[in-house]
Amino acid sequence: MYEVKALKTHVFFVDKNVDELNSCPQVKQAAAYLQRGELVAFPTETVYGLGANAMSTAAVENIFVAKGRPSDNPLIVHIATTEQLHDIACDIPSVAYTLMDHFWPGPLTLVLPTKDAVSPRVTAGLNTVAVRMPNHPIALALIKASGLPIAAPSANRSGRPSPTTAKHVLDDLDGRIAAVVDGGATGVGVESTVIDCTSAIPTILRPGGVTKEEIERVIGAVDIDRALVEKEAVPKSPGMKYTHYAPKAPLVVVYGSPSFLQQVVNEKRASGFTVGVLTTEERRDTYEADVVIACGRRSDLRTVAKQLYDALRAFDETHVHFIYSEAFPNEGIGVAIMNRLLKAAGYQQMMEK
Ligand code: TXA
Ligand code: MG
Repeated sequence: MYEVKALKTHVFFVDKNVDELNSCPQVKQAAAYLQRGELVAFPTETVYGLGANAMSTAAVENIFVAKGRPSDNPLIVHIATTEQLHDIACDIPSVAYTLMDHFWPGPLTLVLPTKDAVSPRVTAGLNTVAVRMPNHPIALALIKASGLPIAAPSANRSGRPSPTTAKHVLDDLDGRIAAVVDGGATGVGVESTVIDCTSAIPTILRPGGVTKEEIERVIGAVDIDRALVEKEAVPKSPGMKYTHYAPKAPLVVVYGSPSFLQQVVNEKRASGFTVGVLTTEERRDTYEADVVIACGRRSDLRTVAKQLYDALRAFDETHVHFIYSEAFPNEGIGVAIMNRLLKAAGYQQMMEK
């Protein structure tokens, strides 16, 4: 049985820019933990992952315990070479190879028919497995050094915003995991796009770092899981049904002008509440509230994606009763941003008339 709260979490500092990461002693030590069936958090280009040996049910079970994750939510298997793919997936359709050629290593996860050797705790008993090759030198070096496919969800406590720094990981999981490799802040900031390659037309199950437009430029039209657009539909990606990413104070997404958002804030403050606003650099000085946090630039939504989870976590360090966020254009990387923001808000929204 895995001992929660009884571990001393080892922090390995690794500079992602050094040559020869494969022979770096910290990476080797972290890989040895993985080989022993222990949990190691590590940076990817999207968010930090919480890794375990994907072939070992006992190792993977530790992930669910440490995170407090619902057991019907399957995990993504991370690989460093295409050879490793054949240990975990079979009957791979040609469209999947085209996607790998264009987007790997990178923030695109492919759902493929699974091989039996993969722990059923990874697939949650489904006949498919989600696989990706992360575009981060430390992640790739760690996977290679371990010689294992690594199952890794985001390294946060279940329901919390995904971690984009090692500090976020420790805030949630210190004492609950064997180690974290601190390789600095991640780049993309939102998780990978998950695409089901087993359906006749590939279907996006979760919007993420690679946009629908980028995928369609390579393989033509793709579908989007109905659950991403219709509230009632049951998502095909089990993880999409859970409330996620939530900051501690209730969050409301506000569609409309800055003056409308300000009016909403004024009304709340007049009732005696302290109020936070989530905005962007361009509008930081527009608002009067108890806390104003700017997350990236509206003129470049990639910067918003990069800082979104850090901004949501930053509100937890304040004492605001409510958070109001601007809405973002629902296109390109904005689709992933709005998906995460609305989930964080539990779909609480206000619209200017
Ligand atoms: O960027 C990322 O994808 C990060 C980094 C660490 O790689 N990982 C991540 O993992 O976001 P996680 O566990 O937080 O999200 C995995 C998502 C969930 O929505 C899960 O339901 C879905 O992928 N998923 C995993 N296996 C699946 C499968 N066989 N079929 C459908 N959805 C699957
Ligand atoms: Mg997650």
